[in-house]
Amino acid sequence: MTLFEKLPKYAVVAALAGGVAVMGYQLFAPTQITASVNVRVPELSVKATAGKQAFDANCAQCHGKNASGTDRGPPLVHDIYNPGHHSDAAFLFATKRGVSQHHWPYGNMPPQPQVTEEQITAIVQYVRELQMENGIKFKKHMM
Ligand code: HEC
Repeated sequence: MTLFEKLPKYAVVAALAGGVAVMGYQLFAPTQITASVNVRVPELSVKATAGKQAFDANCAQCHGKNASGTDRGPPLVHDIYNPGHHSDAAFLFATKRGVSQHHWPYGNMPPQPQVTEEQITAIVQYVRELQMENGIKFKKHMM
């Protein structure tokens, strides 16, 4: 008789149920390191639609679907990325040079040299339209 067979059945069931509960918690817990947010998606302009395609291909693996964040990168639909704090140029620099970790605990953003400047301007348009729809407006940066 193996150790496993000696365990009372209910203990096994309880352990399995516990495992499922933990998995469910990890899937839905609001307190994960990801600062993932709920994003309302507006009707996008033509340029923003092109930006969404480039974003999905190059940025979404870290910044999430609709720029809502993942456990590898922050949401860009977030107050700190309002156009007064992170100008359009910040997107260009981030994509060309990468970003050293400074606002978040995710680590550095590696440069994305495969993305063209035209794609970056479209991505900016996309992110700005998402931000506007979600109430993130220009705030003068005071630092
Ligand atoms: C491998 C993961 C990863 C990918 C891919 C990625 N990013 Fe990032 N990005 C990050 C992380 C992490 C940060 C946050 C760094 C910090 O502030 O701590 C960040 C920060 C940024 C910032 C803020 C820059 C600043 O000045 O603070 C912008 C803008 C940005 N990303 C845009 C993009 C765009 C556009 C793409 C796609 C072309 C992209 N990122 C792809 C991980 C990624």
